[in-house]
Amino acid sequence: MADQYAVPAEPALPSDVPALRWDEPPEGPVIVLLDQRRLPAEEVELVCTDVPALVEAIRSLAVRGAPLLGIAGAYGLALAAVRGFDVDDAAETLAHARPTAVNLGYGVRRALRAYHAAAKGGADSERAAAAALAEARALHREDAEASARMAGHGLALLEELLPGGGYRVLTHCNTGALVSGGEGTALAVVAAAHRAGQLRRLWVDETRPLLQGARLTAYEAARAGMAYTLLTDNAAGSLFAAGEVDAVLIGADRITADGSVANKVGSYPLAVLARYHHVPFIVVAPGTTVDLGTAEGADIEVEQRPGHEVTEFAAVPPAGTGGEVGTGVPVAPLGTQAYNPAFDVTPPELVTAIVTENGVVSPVTRQGLAELCARARTG
Ligand code: MRU
Repeated sequence: MADQYAVPAEPALPSDVPALRWDEPPEGPVIVLLDQRRLPAEEVELVCTDVPALVEAIRSLAVRGAPLLGIAGAYGLALAAVRGFDVDDAAETLAHARPTAVNLGYGVRRALRAYHAAAKGGADSERAAAAALAEARALHREDAEASARMAGHGLALLEELLPGGGYRVLTHCNTGALVSGGEGTALAVVAAAHRAGQLRRLWVDETRPLLQGARLTAYEAARAGMAYTLLTDNAAGSLFAAGEVDAVLIGADRITADGSVANKVGSYPLAVLARYHHVPFIVVAPGTTVDLGTAEGADIEVEQRPGHEVTEFAAVPPAGTGGEVGTGVPVAPLGTQAYNPAFDVTPPELVTAIVTENGVVSPVTRQGLAELCARARTG
C-alpha cells in the first residue's frame, strides 16, 4: 500500500531560519520568530520588540509547541528586563499567554529567578537583565541537548520494541525543530530513525483545525527528505485497521505526576486506536514538560480556542490580524457554535512509554516517573 503514496524527496524549501532567535540591532534587542502561521507558503520572520507582541505571537501560534514556548517565555522575560519594563508584570502576562504547556511558565520563572537572584546579589538592573538573558540562552542550549538525547533514547526504544527496523510511524501535530532549540521531541526520534535508514514511512496527521501536521510536520519531513504521507485525522483508524502503523510517536504539552499526557487534540483517540490494534503509543518530551506538581490528568487546564477555527477551514491567523473571524474559508452556517479544545488528555494506561532526555519510563507509573525525575535532579 505504502509505495503508491511515495513522495518525491525534493524539499524545494529555502533557508534554515531558526524557529526563534535573540537579536540586538541598533534600535534595541528583539526576539525574532519564524512566523509559523505563514508556513509552509513562506519563511517570514516576525520581530517582537516587547512582551505584548510576543504574547500575541504565542496566542496566535506564530510561535508554538511546548519546548519552544518555554524558550520564548524565558527570552520574553529577558526582553522585558533589558528594555527596562517591570519584570514581575511581564512574567505574569507571559506565563498566562496559553495555559496548557507547562514549559511556558517554567521558562518564564527560570529567567525571572535569575533576574531576582542577580538583583539580590547587588547587580544593577542592567546586570540583572543580563543574568535573565543568560538563563534564557542556557535553557535554549539545554533544550537542544535534551532533543539529541531524546532522539537516542527513542531510537533505542523503537529498536527494542520493533526488532527488524523499517518503521511506519504515525505522528500528530508538530514536534520537530520548529518547537525546539534542537531537532524537537517525537520528530527528533523520527529523524534519527530516518538517518539510520530505518524509517519506512512517516504518517502525518493533518491535525485539525490549525493543520500543524499538514503545514509544519510535512514541511519538516519534506526538508529532511523523509518518505511521508499526509492523512486527515479521521483516516488514522482505517490505517491502523490495514496494519500500516508500527508505532505512534507524539510529543506532550504537560505530563502530570500520574503519567497522564496532555497533547494536541486528537492524541487521545490515537492512543485508543493504538491500544486496540496492539501498536506502541510512545510519548517523547523533555523533562521540562513533566509536571510533578499536578497530580493527574483531570487537573490539567485544557486551552479552549475560538470556534471560528473550526467553522472556517484553515483559519490560521495571518500575521498582524490577531486571528479574527473571517481569516479562513467558512465551512459551517454563520453563527454555528463549535467545540474547540486545543488539547486532550491521554491516561497513563494507554501510554506504552514516555521518553525523556533522562531515559524511558515504561510501563508508565507515578512511581516510575517520580524516580526518573529524581535521577535527573541528582544527575
Ligand atoms: O497548539 P500547539 O501547536 O502549540 O500544540 C503543540 C502540540 O500539541 C505539540 O504536540 C506539543 O507541544 C509537543 S511539541 C514537542
